[in-house]
Amino acid sequence: MTLFDRVFSGNDAVYGLTEGAIDAAIAQHGEDKAVSFPDTAYSLPCYYSVTGTKVTTLKELKEALGVVKTLMTREKRLNDAFMSGIATALCAEFIEVLKYIDGATPYEEPCYGHLADAVIRELGVPLVTGDIPGVAVILGTAPSVEEGVALVKSYQAQGILVTLVGGIIDQVKEAGMNTGANVRVIPLGKDVTAVIHVVSVALRAALIFGNVTPGDAGTLMKYTMDRVPAFVNAFGPLDDVVVACGAGAIALGFPVITNETENIFRVPKSLIVQEDVSKFNATSLEARDIKIKITNIDIPVAFASAFEGEIIRRKDMRVEFDGSRVDCAELVHTCDASEIEDHKITVVGPEVDEMEDGSKNSIAYVVKVAGKNMQPDFEPVIERKFHNYINCIEGVYHTGQRDMQRIRISHAAFDAGFRIKHIGEVLYTQVKNEFDAVVDKCEVVIYTDPAECTRIRHEVAIPTFEKRDDRLANLTDESVDVYYSCILCQAFSPSHVCVVTPERLGLCGAVSWLDAKATNELDPNGPCQVITKERPINEELGSYEDVDEAVQKFSQGALEHVTLYSIMQDPMTSCGCFECICGIEPFSNGVVIANREYAGMTPLGMTFSEMASMTGGGVQTPGFMGHGKHFIASKKFMKAEGGIERIVWMPKELKEFIAEKLNATAKELYGIDNFTDMIGDETVATDPETLVGFLTEKGHPALGLDPMM
Ligand code: SF4
Ligand code: NI
Ligand code: NI
Repeated sequence: MTLFDRVFSGNDAVYGLTEGAIDAAIAQHGEDKAVSFPDTAYSLPCYYSVTGTKVTTLKELKEALGVVKTLMTREKRLNDAFMSGIATALCAEFIEVLKYIDGATPYEEPCYGHLADAVIRELGVPLVTGDIPGVAVILGTAPSVEEGVALVKSYQAQGILVTLVGGIIDQVKEAGMNTGANVRVIPLGKDVTAVIHVVSVALRAALIFGNVTPGDAGTLMKYTMDRVPAFVNAFGPLDDVVVACGAGAIALGFPVITNETENIFRVPKSLIVQEDVSKFNATSLEARDIKIKITNIDIPVAFASAFEGEIIRRKDMRVEFDGSRVDCAELVHTCDASEIEDHKITVVGPEVDEMEDGSKNSIAYVVKVAGKNMQPDFEPVIERKFHNYINCIEGVYHTGQRDMQRIRISHAAFDAGFRIKHIGEVLYTQVKNEFDAVVDKCEVVIYTDPAECTRIRHEVAIPTFEKRDDRLANLTDESVDVYYSCILCQAFSPSHVCVVTPERLGLCGAVSWLDAKATNELDPNGPCQVITKERPINEELGSYEDVDEAVQKFSQGALEHVTLYSIMQDPMTSCGCFECICGIEPFSNGVVIANREYAGMTPLGMTFSEMASMTGGGVQTPGFMGHGKHFIASKKFMKAEGGIERIVWMPKELKEFIAEKLNATAKELYGIDNFTDMIGDETVATDPETLVGFLTEKGHPALGLDPMM
C-alpha cells in the first residue's frame, strides 16, 4: 500500500464511523439537539476555523459532514492526502463533540478532553516568551513504560508542553508520574480522536491571537505552520487512522516523528522515521526548529519551568516556611560593588537537617546585587521573579512575595540532597542569567535564624517595601517622561502593540511600566522601546502624536491611532492573552468586566470566552477592550468615558481582589465610599434587567451618565 492509500483508507474509516455516530445521535436525540464543546466561543473550533461556519445542532453537524466529504478527493497527489488528513481531523472533532451532548462530562481524571479557551489565552505569554518552547503531541503506546516516561520527562524538563493520547496515558500512570496542566503534561484521552483537542488549541490560537478569519483555510494553515511550535510523536505500529491524522498534522505544519518502519514513506522534515525512541526528543526539536535555553544549576534536583505549577502537599513536605505565620522576607538589595563577593552564598541559622520534620520555620533571603547599570527601580522587577525561580525547582513550592512568601521543600527533594543553600544557588544563577545587563555581581544571604529573620523583616525589608510603595503611588502617567511599547506578543499577534504606562500595565498583567523599563535596559533592541510623550493631542483621551507614530511603526502600519484612556475611540488593541476583558453594557450606560478565571455568564449574555472572542489579534474593536487586572483601579481606566464609575458588573472574585484599590480610587475621584458595594456580580445578576434593578437600588452613578454609544 502506498502512503496515499493508507491516508485515504484511514480517512474513509473515520468518515464511516462519524456518519454512523451522527445518525445514531440524531435517532436518539432528534436533529434539533444542540451540540457544542464547553467553555469556547468557537463552537466546533476546528470546523469553524477551517470553514467559517458555526455548527450548533445535530442537523447542522450532519450538513457539515457533507462539507467534509468534499475535502476527501482521491487523486494521488500530496494536496489530496493533506486535505484527507484535515477531513479526518474534522471527523474526529465531530465524534468528540457528540460525547458532550446534554452537558455531559465524558472525560475523567487524569484525562482532560476538550480544553477551554481560557487555557489557550493563559498559554499566550509563556509561549511568546519561550518559557514554553514547544508543544509535543505523543500518540499511542511506547515500546516500554520506561521509554515512554523518559520521553515525556525529557520534554517536561525542557519546558515543552506535552499532550498525551492513547496508551501512553496508562504508561505514565503506571510509572506513578504526576500529570496535569500545572506540570505541563496533559493527558487528553485514550481514543485516537482525542488528538483533536490539541489541534483545536492550535487552530483557536490562530483565531484568538492571529486574527485569522474563520474559513480562510490557507492563512490558517500558514499561521499554524509559522507560529505554533507543535510536533507529533507517534508510536508504531500505526494504523491507517493514525496515518490519516498524521497527514492532517503535516498539513498544519506539524512534523510527525515515528518509530514505525513498515509501510511508511519518509517525507523530509515532515514524516520522519526514528527507530530509537530515546532520540525522538532531539529529532523532533530539530525537525520543528525548536531551540532550548539550557540552564545548568548546581543543585541535586531538576530545575525546569515545567515544575513551576507543581504543588507539594502537607504529607509530602519535609519543611515549610510561612510568612503569614512567622517572620519571613525576600529582598533584592542594591549595594556597592566593593560590598559584594560574587557567587558567595551564606546560610545564617539552621539547615533543613536541623529542622523538625513537617515543621514551620522562618526564612529571609537577601540577594545583594551591584552593577554599573543597576537602578533601585529594578529591585522589585528582579524580586518578582523569585517566585518563578524557586518554583521551577523540582520538589520545591513557592507562593506569595515580599514578606508573605511560603515555601515548601518536599521529602523527595530533601532526600535527593536539596538544602537551603541550594535556594541561594538558584537565585544567584538565575539573577545572573536573566539580568546580566544590569547585575555584575551578586551575593545571597539566607537567614533561617528566627531572630535574624525578625530583624531583616522589620528593620530592612518592610521599610524598603514602604519606600517602594510610595514611589509607585507617585508614579503617574504625568510624572514620567516616557512610556514604553511592548511587542512581545507579535510572535502570535503580528500587529499587536501594547503601550505601557505607569498607570496602565500591559494587558497580560505581567508587564508594568517598571518591567518595561527594565526590559528596555536589559535588551535595548528588544521588545520594549521608549515612546516619548512630547506632543500630546488630547490629554483626556490620552492621545499623543508620539504614541501614534510609535504604534504605526511597531505595528508595521496596521495601526494609525491609539488612545490610552478610551475604549470607544481608537482603543488599544488586544493580542489575546489579556487577564480581563471589558465590554459595553447598554442598559446601564456602563461596562461589564470579566476575568479569565470566571467561567460563568455575564449580564451581556456572553461568557468571558465569548466576550474575549469579540476582540484580539491586534485589531481595534471599540466597545471591547482587553486589559490587566490592576488597570481596573487606575484613575486612567476609561478616563475618556468617565472613568471607573462606568463599571457596573464584575465577577465576585475579581471584585474582591481589586476592592481595596478600587474603593480608594472611587473615593478620591468621586467621593464615593465602598464603591464596590454598588457593583453587581454573579450572585446579584447575570442578566441586564436584574442588574439595572440592583444598580438603581444602590444609586450606581453610571445610570446618570450619558450613553456610550
Ligand atoms: Fe504581550 Fe502586551 Fe504583555 Fe507585552 S505587555 S507581553 S505585548 S500583552
Ligand atoms: Ni547595603
Ligand atoms: Ni499576548
